[in-house]
Amino acid sequence: MEDQASPGKILVTGALGQIGSELVAALRERGGADRVIASDIRMERADREGPFEYVDATDVHQLRDVVRKHEITAIYHLAALLSATAEEKPHVAWQVNMDGLYRVLEVARAYGCSVFFPSSIGAFGADTPRQQTPQDTIQRPTTMYGVTKVAGELLCDYYYQRFGVDTRGVRFPGLISYVAPPGGGTTDYAVEIFHAAVRHGRYTCFLRPDARLDMMYMPDAVRAIIEVMAANPSRLRHRNAFNITAMSFTPEELAAEIRVHIPEFTIDYQIDPVRQAIADSWPESLDDSAAREEWDWSPQYDLPALVRDMLENLSSRNNHAESNLQTAAGAKP
Ligand code: NAD
Ligand code: SER
Repeated sequence: MEDQASPGKILVTGALGQIGSELVAALRERGGADRVIASDIRMERADREGPFEYVDATDVHQLRDVVRKHEITAIYHLAALLSATAEEKPHVAWQVNMDGLYRVLEVARAYGCSVFFPSSIGAFGADTPRQQTPQDTIQRPTTMYGVTKVAGELLCDYYYQRFGVDTRGVRFPGLISYVAPPGGGTTDYAVEIFHAAVRHGRYTCFLRPDARLDMMYMPDAVRAIIEVMAANPSRLRHRNAFNITAMSFTPEELAAEIRVHIPEFTIDYQIDPVRQAIADSWPESLDDSAAREEWDWSPQYDLPALVRDMLENLSSRNNHAESNLQTAAGAKP
């Protein structure tokens, strides 16, 4: 597929997070390592396989300097605080999520960059229809995270309509991955449960057993980003904030699927009222027909495929770590 939206160099903000850790690798595989500049305010990752810059997305000077230095033509803006962290620190969330996006859009406007912005199921609220949530519907979120996501969707539309900035985006459901840990979200249980299942055979869940939410495996999410940025612009009616989804399940349904592979796995519940209230205000399932019609979106992983792949990868990583430990212990004098 031709990368129509970003033929030049790409800057990824928040690149060391859950999505960025896999998106950067996928973009580099497609376009070459030097074409993708990873950036973050964390510097801890030693195994970088391409250019990395320290960029605080709320600092317009840092953004502008990096865009000029590397002649960036597309910004994939991932830097943000997720839902649970944003409820703990609403002022910081506003600053990072809103001021950061505004500055990214301003730099994109000045230097002719396209922009990818990820919205979320968090952009909906308790008044939204919760089953098969339509693409265009009521959005009255009650969290700071949701407020910044709705405002972000609108701001991206505004920059396209007013200034012609090629902004594109999707509303992600909860994302599940074995590569990088999640960063303070309400859907994080669906990642933690796999690590706990492989290591301890049991998990204590912070959401109710029947808390149904939309979810997606990271390979589908990364492909969605690449595909929406490569989509033929003449087909896009929505541009920003496409509903996308792959599956919808509850903690007890996920636990049952894990038991297909680890029969002795057990789950119990210790409900976190803050995250449960957030989950209660989010959709149970999204209608993703606009994404299917406008850029041929189609997920590849359902619940059984997700669980099989997560457990295979985490088990082999666990076995590898244990054999390394045994080798190290055996090597001791
Ligand atoms: P994450 O928390 O794993 O990563 C965010 C990264 O942003 C971190 O590496 C952090 O160090 C960095 N960061 C924080 N403040 C920054 C700043 N001021 N400047 C630069 N970097 C900064 O998040 P993620 O899961 O990778 O999510 C990325 C984006 O996708 C966010 O906008 C998030 O709202 C959205 N999203 C994620 C999910 C999900 O389930 N992971 C679902 C829906 C939407
Ligand atoms: N997974 C994200 C969160 O829980 C949804 O945007 O915050």
